Amino acid sequence: MKFLRGPSDYSQEPPRHPSLIINSQEPFNAEPSRSALISSSYVTPVDLFYKRNHGPVPIVDDIERFNISTFKPSKCQISNNIYSAKKKISNKISLTSTTYLLHIYQCAGNRRTAMSKVKTVKGVGWDVCAIGNAIWGGAKLADVLELVGIPNLASITPLGGKHVEFISVDKCKEENGGPYKASIPLIQATTSDSEVILAYEMNGEPLNRDHGYPLRVIVPGVIGARSVKWLDSINIIAEECQGFFMQKDYKMFPPKISWENIDWSTRRPQMDFPVQSVICSLEDVTQVKPGKITAHGYAVSGGGRGIERVDVSFDGGKTWVEASRYQKTGIPYVADDKSNDKWAWVLFEAEAEISENTEIVAKAVDIAANVQPENVEYIWNLRGILNTSWHRIHIHTEHLDN
Ligand code: MTE
Repeated sequence: MKFLRGPSDYSQEPPRHPSLIINSQEPFNAEPSRSALISSSYVTPVDLFYKRNHGPVPIVDDIERFNISTFKPSKCQISNNIYSAKKKISNKISLTSTTYLLHIYQCAGNRRTAMSKVKTVKGVGWDVCAIGNAIWGGAKLADVLELVGIPNLASITPLGGKHVEFISVDKCKEENGGPYKASIPLIQATTSDSEVILAYEMNGEPLNRDHGYPLRVIVPGVIGARSVKWLDSINIIAEECQGFFMQKDYKMFPPKISWENIDWSTRRPQMDFPVQSVICSLEDVTQVKPGKITAHGYAVSGGGRGIERVDVSFDGGKTWVEASRYQKTGIPYVADDKSNDKWAWVLFEAEAEISENTEIVAKAVDIAANVQPENVEYIWNLRGILNTSWHRIHIHTEHLDN
């Protein structure tokens, strides 16, 4: 019997924080409220971190049998399982020293509900909080691969392996009851700077069940879909993973593509993600008294690109002010500073006096000068991924009838 198994029903789901907004009960998909996400802290508490599952949460039957070991280099061949559970999680340090990584990831479907308002898209609806910033503790994948004879910076193994595939144990209906899986290019896994980790801790505690206990991969700078939870095996393979979530989902199609004319093979699996910013301190329609108003939110870009600017307009986009940005409270953020948390989000704040109904808008610019698109129509896609259009808040000022 395996120590980790994916149940076929939802009778043994873990407890969750009652304040989460549930977008789908089975499988469980939930996000915190905007105010909870932004007021909690720079590091998102585990309870409030969004949960994105495609099937029932796996169960660990016998943690004593959870170990980390690697096959001998000679066995490291295409499609060979190079990773299995052999050493106790408490002995994790003996595998390789624990790396702590402050890293956000964002579901590709974040802000899908807003995209759906233009034209219906398929998928679980999300407001703007399918994102979180946590401290992940684990072993660097590059170090683990080195232990099995795949050197740093290898892009191909002697047997032609070019991708690292992560396979879980959860039973997903999209995979006809099979497990969730995904892959990344080998070079990304063997490049120490890309900081891919096999994580067993989140915010200083063992992962909880929803977030991948006992082990998951964290792939910085790419959409959350590639950070496979509840790892069962890792394979080195010649072609990228052929699983549903790599080949028939999480791809970005142009607006003209519909379910009638889609050809999945024409697009590559989405990895990196574009620059994003969201105002979390206000709901999309907010009623306030005339006076000072604060727009407080997060900005982030894929690939570890820093945030060069966040522009906020308090008059529907006619004029703009530059928001203050920070990661550590009280320390202004400079986009390419070496001391930044490269993979983390950047918080921003701007305020103004308002006297009448208006629209507050946020747009960010990353260090490559990429900027968010103005209208969601131009980036609409049938799976509703990567809605990074300007974030707009409609403000209704209350009457001052004494
Ligand atoms: N891994 C497994 N095994 N099963 C899943 O359903 N969901 C993916 C990814 N890894 C998923 C998975 C998606 S789409 C996202 S956005 C993140 O996990 C969400 O991780 P979280 O629930 O820890 O926030």
